[in-house]
Amino acid sequence: MPPIISSRVIAIIAGTVVLLFALLWTSCPNCPSTCSSFDDPHSGYLQYTSAERPHQASWGSWHHPKHSKHGVGQRASAVTQNWNILYHLGGNGPWVEKVDDVVEGGIGVPEGCNVEQVHMMSRHAERYPTRKVALRLQNLVKRMRESGVTFKGDMSFFNDWELFWSDDSLIEQLTSTGPFSGTLGAFTTGQALSRHRKIRYWASDCQRVIDTARHFGAGFFGLGSQNITELEVISEDSSMGANTLTPGDTCLTYVEDKEEGHDNGYTMLFKFRSTYLGATRERLLGQNPEFEFTEDEIYAMQEACGFETTVRGRSHWCDLFTREEFVGFEYARDILHYYRAGPGTPYGALLGWLWLNATTNLMVEGPSAGSLFFSFVHDGDIAPMIAALDIITDAEHLPTTHIAHTRKWKKSQVSPMGGRTTFELLSCELKEDSEARRNYVRININDGITALPDCASGPGSSCPLEQFVARTAKKGQEVGDFRQRCGLGDDAADHITFLHQ
Ligand SMILES: *[C@@H]1O[C@H](CO)[C@@H](O)[C@H](O)[C@H]1NC(C)=O
Ligand SMILES: *[C@@H]1O[C@H](CO)[C@@H](O)[C@H](O)[C@H]1NC(C)=O
Repeated sequence: MPPIISSRVIAIIAGTVVLLFALLWTSCPNCPSTCSSFDDPHSGYLQYTSAERPHQASWGSWHHPKHSKHGVGQRASAVTQNWNILYHLGGNGPWVEKVDDVVEGGIGVPEGCNVEQVHMMSRHAERYPTRKVALRLQNLVKRMRESGVTFKGDMSFFNDWELFWSDDSLIEQLTSTGPFSGTLGAFTTGQALSRHRKIRYWASDCQRVIDTARHFGAGFFGLGSQNITELEVISEDSSMGANTLTPGDTCLTYVEDKEEGHDNGYTMLFKFRSTYLGATRERLLGQNPEFEFTEDEIYAMQEACGFETTVRGRSHWCDLFTREEFVGFEYARDILHYYRAGPGTPYGALLGWLWLNATTNLMVEGPSAGSLFFSFVHDGDIAPMIAALDIITDAEHLPTTHIAHTRKWKKSQVSPMGGRTTFELLSCELKEDSEARRNYVRININDGITALPDCASGPGSSCPLEQFVARTAKKGQEVGDFRQRCGLGDDAADHITFLHQ
């Protein structure tokens, strides 16, 4: 008899999280001067009610920007009824819940249903900037220091500011919140597990991804996790062909195609970027006429806001900007990922379909194939999966001439640091015959249940399994053969083989 993950166990886990939350929360009145403006930190965004939803530790903890005395007034880091900077960092900041286009009713298992199998694709936890981004910031800081200018106005904080890493070996690695978010990530995934045999789970071969998987394992499986789990590290090497978690590294044409491949992300970003940074440049120049910043440098300052926040809990760089300027930054980051690896590149769905197909096959096999499948990757691997799944689809490609305010594609909510998408295989009793059961697939993106636009007739807007299987197969025909489209030989692997218990 396969293990059935009951909704009761989930309720107990959710209860534990709420308790934790309550503990963090009650400490708030001790610090009245820092609390007043965020008594209800998520209202306006979420109509958030803590008792019904899981919670990310950092939201209620001392190191969260909301608990800082800084960021008052109208500047970008001030949290108000309808503004929270964490939703505008384009993936460079702490984990946040998905709140747009989510199914009402929370993540609880629909009545009459059990969760039989769970698949998760997760981004690594909060990290320091990648090399390129770190260098951009280091160069900016160096140029500013060497100018000998004493900065005035909004920029005056810089005179005493220090970089948020002291050792370059930290670049690209997890910040100190890694273990914490791993544990809570495990909690909020909210599932019980089978201990009948070793659980295998997967990480692409990159230190921060492996570390995240280990933290998650420790949090989810407990102190004996090494004894009951096996973390399989999957090479990111281009020779892996289709047998990979990181198809963006193995699909040669995607890497080489300057027009429509990987590089188009930055091309489109640059197109858009000049439309929103001009006024900022003027303002900074007005305050410090002796120092002229380039667009690239101003963009680096906006990047620094998110990254410094994940290390120090807050960042002066955020307050250098208005909210509108961060709405621009958010969109710039959306454009980058949309055209680099998402629906905006003809390769997006092709890359993402590999994992989707393998996962769909496991759901067809059902619980006898195992109950838990956790894969840890990069955001550049999540965007293709979302594209293949066709779950966040804009009717038209995102424009680079202006911000498409009504777009659905919002990276901040899909792949923030630690962002995770979970597929639940549900078994639900039929209304007309409670003895009979039927299978459904429900998608949870960062604790926001998200309906497939064309398949949501099941309980809690889930998709009947057979329809899900049909749409995955149809997508497979649309995207075509991986080896052929990627310019790989017949000797390359043609599908994922490692994803099994
Ligand atoms: C893991 O297994 C080893 C060897 O069986 C055992 O000695 C150890 O106590 C186990 N660790 C935990 C935390 O269960
Ligand atoms: C997709 O799944 C089918 C089984 O339904 C399998 O035969 C095929 O190899 C898979 N292809 C890829 C590229 O994953």
